[in-house]
Amino acid sequence: MNLNDLPSPVALLEPQPISLDVLLEKYAKGSEASLGDVQQRVARALASVEAEGTRDSWANEFLQTMQLGFIPAGRILSAAGTDIRATLINCFVQPVGDAVEEDLPGLPSIYTALSQAAATMRRGGGVGYDFSRIRPRGALVKGTHSTASGPVSYMKVFDRSCETVESAGSRRGAQMGILRCDHPDIEQFISSKDDGGLKNFNISVGITDAFMRAVEADHEFELVHTARPIDDVVAKGAYQRPDGVWVYRKVRAAELMDRITRSTYDHAEPGVVFLDRMNEENNLHYAEVIEASNPCSEQPLPPYGCCCLGAIDLTKFIIDPFKPGASFDSEAFRKVVSRAVRMLDNVLDLTFWPLPEQRAEAMSKRRIGLGFLGLGDALIMLRQRYDSPEGRATAATISETLRDAAYMASIALAEERGSFPLLDAERLLQGGYAQRLPGHIQDAIRSRGLRNSHLLTVAPTGTITLAAADNASNGIEPAFSWTYTRKKRMADDSTVEYVVEDHAFRLYRASGGDVKQLPSYFVSALEMSANDHLQMLTAVQPFIDSAISKTVNVPADYPYEDFQSLYKDAWKAGLKGLATYRPNSVTGSVLSLESAN
Ligand code: CDP
Repeated sequence: MNLNDLPSPVALLEPQPISLDVLLEKYAKGSEASLGDVQQRVARALASVEAEGTRDSWANEFLQTMQLGFIPAGRILSAAGTDIRATLINCFVQPVGDAVEEDLPGLPSIYTALSQAAATMRRGGGVGYDFSRIRPRGALVKGTHSTASGPVSYMKVFDRSCETVESAGSRRGAQMGILRCDHPDIEQFISSKDDGGLKNFNISVGITDAFMRAVEADHEFELVHTARPIDDVVAKGAYQRPDGVWVYRKVRAAELMDRITRSTYDHAEPGVVFLDRMNEENNLHYAEVIEASNPCSEQPLPPYGCCCLGAIDLTKFIIDPFKPGASFDSEAFRKVVSRAVRMLDNVLDLTFWPLPEQRAEAMSKRRIGLGFLGLGDALIMLRQRYDSPEGRATAATISETLRDAAYMASIALAEERGSFPLLDAERLLQGGYAQRLPGHIQDAIRSRGLRNSHLLTVAPTGTITLAAADNASNGIEPAFSWTYTRKKRMADDSTVEYVVEDHAFRLYRASGGDVKQLPSYFVSALEMSANDHLQMLTAVQPFIDSAISKTVNVPADYPYEDFQSLYKDAWKAGLKGLATYRPNSVTGSVLSLESAN
């Protein structure tokens, strides 16, 4: 298949003004003026790590892979092949210890962690952290005979630092802060953004199975830490368990869960990540422990783990869109998946690493995260509703195809380049996810190896959909609306307004469709129930070895009763995490204002 055989009339659509502006502002360098120019640079850069003598032909292959629908993540588009010393990795997870000054092996002190965060963000990477090691308010600080101030107060320091550090490549820094549900400061954490604070953080509660079982049984739940409390807290009932851990207080688990859900309903945060599920499903369950995820939750990662991301635009593979016989071109899709795996594997060798620890971690595991975007629009083009069993079945089949093609590509790469050093095939195949791989893929991993410990992630694709996919629906999401006005703040603080149209909507009109009377398969995010959103995530997650960034969007008047069981349902469905969004007074409407820096 080559460019001339593109299966959809998408190539005929003129780019929308917003697409070109975002492309020029975020990605284009020097004299580059079009998506094609950016793709040429990226193709050449990713081919530069191939063997001498083969680079030109790989550059052509990579260029064609992008023209056919593969979109490397924003950091790659922005910095690959330039002389900017920025990372090509969108985001990382970094550890934070409990000490103010002393670095322990693998566990930096709070201020070392802060400077590591600055080093990463300065080079353009987002950072996720688990702050649970930091001792709670009311814990003893032995050296100075004082009382600890707790993780939330330190998060404020990270928040300000993030705001101040100039991020490479026209992007604001993004951070994820996680606190375990059994940390004594959990209530303070849950409400830490209520007053509009911690603006440079997404926050999520790290939920354990033990907690969810306590919620179900309406039991009490211990809030614990290894650090000793001050005498006042002991006098109020804190005690040390036989295992040495201090129980600061007990709470009714169901009440704590309700507090999380209420806050989410009112302020859209915190999200949740299910820690036990992340670890059981992890291909590297035998080699690492995951305590946190990246800023938008699509990659559960160990300390210094990285998200080497890229997404395939599913709308490019629809043959005869909107026609009764519309179909998905799996054969073409598989080829693009296979090449994209090679390109992301190359990114790991090409990128600048802000910290040596990140490089060492990536070299031993070679984790990558290939996913898709435009699922919502692709289903529309196939005349299927996103909230229907048929739509979910199609999404599952596409995800299964993605999985199988990506694993086979990584197996072939292992033969050519070697497996990732920490591969232990037998143990990897005992992981929850790997057990679901088809038998022939399991056998091939045993006999031929595997290049990458993880291959699949569905990221939000917030910027690349605008710049490189004609505003197709983001990641796994349904379209948010068919047309809307986007305000953009410019460098001089003035604002510019753009009318932005959804890709499927534009294409439908360009194909002669009547957009005043859209067919019923044009279903947008706010027209379906929270449960419909959840069901799509449940259909796709089993095929994705990392995770999926999914926001359950509900309208402002969505009843709390229909919302309150959402996180419990997500846990029961075996998901790794979830975020929700209901318009609210603190963050306002999700699409309101996009900053130009
Ligand atoms: O569209 P693009 O490739 O730029 O990124 P995305 O798919 O919207 O986001 C992927 C990941 O990049 C997010 O989960 C964040 O971890 C990270 N990110 C960030 O660190 N800072 C931002 N301003 C945006 C995204």
